[in-house]
Amino acid sequence: MRILVTGGAGYIGSHTVLQLLVAGHDVCVVDNYSNSSPKALERVYELASAETAGDPSLHVAEIDLNDADALDLLFADVTPEAVIHFAGFKAVGESVAEPLKYYRNNIVGTITLLETMSRHGVKNLVFSSSATVYGDAKELPVAEDAPRSVTNPYGRTKLMIEEILEDLVQADPEWSVGILRYFNPVGAHPSGQIGEDPQGIPNNLMPFIAQVAVGRREAVNVFGNDYPTPDGTGVRDYIHVEDLAEGHLQAVDYVAKNSGWRAWNLGTGKGVSVLELIASYSRACGRELPVNITDRRPGDIAESYADVSRAERELGWEAKRSVDEMTVDSWRWQSANPQGYRES
Ligand code: WQD
Repeated sequence: MRILVTGGAGYIGSHTVLQLLVAGHDVCVVDNYSNSSPKALERVYELASAETAGDPSLHVAEIDLNDADALDLLFADVTPEAVIHFAGFKAVGESVAEPLKYYRNNIVGTITLLETMSRHGVKNLVFSSSATVYGDAKELPVAEDAPRSVTNPYGRTKLMIEEILEDLVQADPEWSVGILRYFNPVGAHPSGQIGEDPQGIPNNLMPFIAQVAVGRREAVNVFGNDYPTPDGTGVRDYIHVEDLAEGHLQAVDYVAKNSGWRAWNLGTGKGVSVLELIASYSRACGRELPVNITDRRPGDIAESYADVSRAERELGWEAKRSVDEMTVDSWRWQSANPQGYRES
């Protein structure tokens, strides 16, 4: 299929683009590089060429989704059959400080994309959503029909877009929309050539641990060890980015064959604590990592992990990679690229 991928130079986007190319899809990436590097796509192309022994069909356009004219010209040129929409700002703390920046980029950008898709008769969409729409879920594991509630502007943009898409499908049943709710994406492609490369101080646990392991940061700050969990630290459902990427290939096939609006959790269904993840990373990098126990981070929940039975049933997808594979693959990327894409 001809697939347009917004935010395809980003962490999850680049891993998904690689798998799409290896699977033989024609891919067009739209990215404004506001939180990513063109280097990622250069490496994706090299990896895809090696894995397919051919000439992967990859087209890259540096476009901001709010540039409606440029997007329109691109759609006319590429005529995609489906869109996977990753592009969006995703830092919770930043969204609290700068809500309008998040609403303009994430919401208005998405509406511009959807209007362009409609104009060109492209009505198959996979949307990158997040478990954050569940807020502090009362029941674990969290199922897709759990109540949605958000507590920050970033999470609100994800929930709003899910609801905008519900309204769109209601108004025009020709649309086929797949909502993928990621739990905690971590890890890197086993080649070590592409991976997570956050700008500035990482908000998320795994990239912070990786930067401690490679010597860029002093110690891992554990945000609270007094939660009602087995070892007192936060429990999350970490999922390998390669498993996550595979879920997108199943979802884009699904939306191409169906219509309507459907959401799936992408997780492992298992909870892992902060200390357990640090211990796994210590094994991966071969040394004990320094740890500080600090206060809880405001807004954090104690525990979250997914009910993944719907994706298994309807997409034929399940996560296969272990926590140790996540940390081993992350370490291979981080140790080979201590400064991410910047130094290459
Ligand atoms: C995981 C655990 C922290 C950093 C966030 C977003 C969510 C999604 C995934 C985009 C928690 C603890 C963290 C650190 C720590 N992003 N922690 N020290 O908060 O589950 O989810 O990222 O969709 O929207 O909310 O992920 O990696 O920030 O935290 O102890 O330096 O690690 O308290 O228990 P989170 P996280």
